[in-house]
Amino acid sequence: MKLKILHLEDNADDVELVRHSLGRQGLECDIHAVSTGPDYVSALERKQFDVILSDSGLPGYDGRAALAAAHERCPGVPFIVLSGSAQPSPIEKVSPPGVAARLAKSEMKQLGAVIQHALQKPALHSDTDEIRSAEHTLGMKHLVSVVQRLSLARNLETVMAIVRRAVRDLTGADGATFVLREGEHCYYADEDAIGPLWKGRRFPLSACISGWAMLHRQAVAIDDIYADERIPHDAYRTTFVKSLVMTPIRSAAPIGAVGAYWAQNHHASPEEIELLQALADSTSIAIEAVDLFTNLERRVTERTEELDRNAAQLEMANRELEAFSYSVAHDLRSPLIAIDGFRSLLLESCAQTFDEESREYLARIGTSVTRMHRLIEDLLSLSKVSLCPINRAPVDLSSIAREIMWNLRERTPERLMEFVIADDLVVEGDPDLLRIVMENLLANAWKYTSRRKSAQIEFGVSTLPGGKRRFFVQDNGAGFDSRFAEKLFRPFSRLHTQAEFPGTGIGLALSQRVVNRHGGKLWAESKVDCGATFSFTVPAQFK
Ligand SMILES: Nc1ncnc2c1ncn2[C@@H]1O[C@H](COP(=O)(O)OP(=O)(O)OP(=O)(O)O)[C@@H](O)[C@H]1O
Ligand SMILES: [Mg+2]
Repeated sequence: MKLKILHLEDNADDVELVRHSLGRQGLECDIHAVSTGPDYVSALERKQFDVILSDSGLPGYDGRAALAAAHERCPGVPFIVLSGSAQPSPIEKVSPPGVAARLAKSEMKQLGAVIQHALQKPALHSDTDEIRSAEHTLGMKHLVSVVQRLSLARNLETVMAIVRRAVRDLTGADGATFVLREGEHCYYADEDAIGPLWKGRRFPLSACISGWAMLHRQAVAIDDIYADERIPHDAYRTTFVKSLVMTPIRSAAPIGAVGAYWAQNHHASPEEIELLQALADSTSIAIEAVDLFTNLERRVTERTEELDRNAAQLEMANRELEAFSYSVAHDLRSPLIAIDGFRSLLLESCAQTFDEESREYLARIGTSVTRMHRLIEDLLSLSKVSLCPINRAPVDLSSIAREIMWNLRERTPERLMEFVIADDLVVEGDPDLLRIVMENLLANAWKYTSRRKSAQIEFGVSTLPGGKRRFFVQDNGAGFDSRFAEKLFRPFSRLHTQAEFPGTGIGLALSQRVVNRHGGKLWAESKVDCGATFSFTVPAQFK
């Protein structure tokens, strides 16, 4: 008995090729060739076939649609795909159930054997429900990978690109649109289709099907758009669309819709609609995540800008304050010089007439003038270290320490002192400013050990957790109460009396400003009578 074969193929040469091939392979058959989707469907409806051969896709009618039509109308008939290329198309890659075999046209000589093999196999996928459910599972798997990609999307463009592609991959539709709600309008923001749709256009919500889906918060499937009054037919006449499914994005309060379109009349299965709705729901979550992310990013940028602005304003205010105190200190010098000058004149010209007490008063004025002069000089030096530019160069702290120690030893050769200085401690910084730090820390160590029989002073380095270098000056002197450690760095703030140890209380304030200007930190640790340790860092990079 002759085999009845239905052959869906739009290329007449390929039809001939199949006929010849099967003849030569000794297969007696009666081939009914059709070249369009409608002819194919009507042949399926009118006749009984033993085998169906299908091209992998005709323009406007793809392999998936052919397979679905075959299973609906002739369940159990082997469906063999003949593909033009050795490369499988996306639908073939997932090997939908119900395809008995797939053969490249270049391997036509095996077609007879493939057909016989397919006929001998039990009707594997004759149960349409089983096929549908297997297809649904495949669709769900695909959806999971789409959702994964959506979760990484950081902007709306990426979301739209993923979704428009996914709509077609998941349903085999010929087109997809991504519609956004803009108040009372639908904005067709994006599309992916075999022919142009409405990208970039806006329609009133009440005048298009995406609006209907959004207003009714439900998906709508239309097999024949020209038979449905909700469709604005004029807008569709220029397009390929015959059937569609429109699904709202975020059912509770739709913010848009996703459309799938077919060039041939297509009856969307409940599984297809469910898949599209799941895709639309995932899209809504992705859009919300994009909104959140964009919001967060904007807030971080705004906050950073605000912080930068504040820092710049603070920096400016500090510099103005510094410049002000510099000019005040500077201007105080001349009246002070005048006061001192007139005091000397008075002393000279009235030396005879002044009694002991008056001379004592003048002497006190002299001491106060000297003290004030010293204070002014200190204020000026504080301002200078804050305002002067920083010159960057390698600074050998070890040799600076050695030089300072040598000078100190010279000043008091009678004192017993033990100096330990680590070698080759080199940093990047301003040589003059860093010398001020070293001079003050070592001079303090020298001064506050003056009551020790034998002073021990060390300049060294250690590594902090995180890898930064900590330089330190340690002594075995008078020490101080650690609770007041912060106070030491304030200008003119002292923990010892003049009688105990003389000084004005400016050295540490100066040192801290220098270290801060290098981006580092200066801190102190001590116990009364147990010596003190002053530590500082100098980062490799500073502004
Ligand atoms: N090595 C140290 N041991 C104990 N106390 C110290 C030490 N270094 C500083 N101090 C305490 O910190 C205070 C502030 O130190 P700072 O160097 O600023 O001022 P100063 O030494 O008193 O005067 P000068 O302005 O001449 O340096 C000191 O008065 C002293 O009380
Ligand atoms: Mg000092």
